[in-house]
Amino acid sequence: MTILKTTLNTATTDFAENDAHYRRRIDELHALRRTQRIGGPEKVRARHTEKGKMLPRERVERLIDPGTPFLELGELAGLGKYNDVPPGAGIITGIGMVSGRHCMIIANDATIKGGTYFGMTTKKHVRAQRIAWNNRLPVITLVDSGGAFLPDQENIFPDEGQFGSIFHNQVGMSGDGIPQIAIVMGPCTAGGAYIPSLCDEVVIVRGQGFMYLGGPELTFAATGEKVDAETLGGGKMHSSVSGVTDHLAENDAHALALTREIVLHLGEPPLPRKTPATPKPPAYPIEEIYGIVSRDAKVPTDNREVVARLLDGSEFHEFKPLYGDTLMTGWGRIHGHEVGVLANNGVLFVESALKAAHFINLCVQRDIPLLFLADVNGFMVGREAEQAGIAKAGAKMITAMSSARVPKFTVITGGSYGAGYLAMLGRPFQPDAMFIWPSGRAAIMGPEQAASVLAQVRSQINDREGTSWTAEEEEAFKAPIRKEYETFQDPYNFASNLWADSVIEPGETRETLALLLDIASRRPKVDTNFGVFRF
Ligand code: COA
Repeated sequence: MTILKTTLNTATTDFAENDAHYRRRIDELHALRRTQRIGGPEKVRARHTEKGKMLPRERVERLIDPGTPFLELGELAGLGKYNDVPPGAGIITGIGMVSGRHCMIIANDATIKGGTYFGMTTKKHVRAQRIAWNNRLPVITLVDSGGAFLPDQENIFPDEGQFGSIFHNQVGMSGDGIPQIAIVMGPCTAGGAYIPSLCDEVVIVRGQGFMYLGGPELTFAATGEKVDAETLGGGKMHSSVSGVTDHLAENDAHALALTREIVLHLGEPPLPRKTPATPKPPAYPIEEIYGIVSRDAKVPTDNREVVARLLDGSEFHEFKPLYGDTLMTGWGRIHGHEVGVLANNGVLFVESALKAAHFINLCVQRDIPLLFLADVNGFMVGREAEQAGIAKAGAKMITAMSSARVPKFTVITGGSYGAGYLAMLGRPFQPDAMFIWPSGRAAIMGPEQAASVLAQVRSQINDREGTSWTAEEEEAFKAPIRKEYETFQDPYNFASNLWADSVIEPGETRETLALLLDIASRRPKVDTNFGVFRF
């Protein structure tokens, strides 16, 4: 296997300045993560723990096997969207090992608006279900939720992808044999009560967990019946009278221990279909990526140097190295798991698009997962490219990428724009997971280009109407467009809207992908039916 060579000089001022700049962005990421990890206001957290309840993060930690990682997903979802609500949208989602088996864990944070669901909370819950479903992971939901956050009705109630889809997915997943367990750890009203009701097995905490479609107040308002919470939906009642719940726990710790036991009896865990090689670290320090990626977004990254720092032993069996070299394609390993890598090194030309289609076809044939490292301005434009059939070649790449049913992952490492973003396994093509680095950006086009295109359109209208504008007027027109695009393309905007599953730093990329590749290697192979390739 070829070991990728490096030509990097780490002793330059440029490297040092890039490195310092990237590290500041990573500090920013960690600061945002910290705000999310704290949860709701201190007063509310104190009230929560005074009731003898564990905070949601502690619950997750107690649920997973000691010393094993928890791959959190969507941790910055909802960032800056709701007043007084920290990023994360009041719910924790991620993959953790429970009793030796990887599970999707979904935990409401009752310290944030009573654990109620905003639009983004439902989107995050649905996304976690989708990842679990694709990978056939059991789902454990730690329910402590008042149901819908009523003022956000339009983003919760009427449409597909909103609250109702949580139930729809539960039923579909159940039909596909995916185990679902709920622990009722607080008062769960309305939607919060349906989630456990649609699970295979339900644990409830005595004197603390309640489940009802309408609480005591609503019941009184609706029917005039006066009834206390325990009689209406307490753990003892549901476990001994209604049969809605299956296991009665004495407290959070007991409920979590019972759940770990339930997981032991879910049947045989799936075995990997592949044998990973012995993992080895890359030949060059991964942290050097911070100095490789320029602090100036206009300076392109030598992604060969990036690939060399992501693969085991920096070993890369490159495919067609001399053809279509603005896209690197080849095979390598991440923590022993084989992966087919597509990494940009410039604009996509006809040759690079054809090479991508060929390479994806080979990976599908060989049942090898795909990893797209996206950093691309788009496809080549102009007479020469059009006459060479760039539209047809791009369509082949998109057909191959979109059809491929092997596990496929995207990491946006740099600026990914327009059709380039889409062709490099953009979100609409349903990657199994998509991450974005702090240096990642994505939009229809770059801020300057968008401002120029719209200014040109305006100029043409001016010409038609016989008017004109001064250079200052043109700049005043362009500045807000540039700003809007800058904000849009920011990785945290992608994370806030859950267009990416998480912002991760380069140093976390190998471990993140290794866990997902391991899980994906345990799901059944799905056959690919390629769409029509236009020749
Ligand atoms: N929609 C919007 N906001 C809600 C809410 C809902 N369904 N339920 C609670 N909140 C808000 C409260 O206004 C409060 O906001 P604040 O922090 O700005 O003061 C915050 O969430 C915490 O509520 P609080 O009642 O103080 O917390 P609690 O821990 O004592 O009780 C609940 C939590 C969820 C049990 C309780 O608030 C409740 O029963 N809510 C109504 C649930 C309901 O009927 N849902 C129907 C959905 S279809």
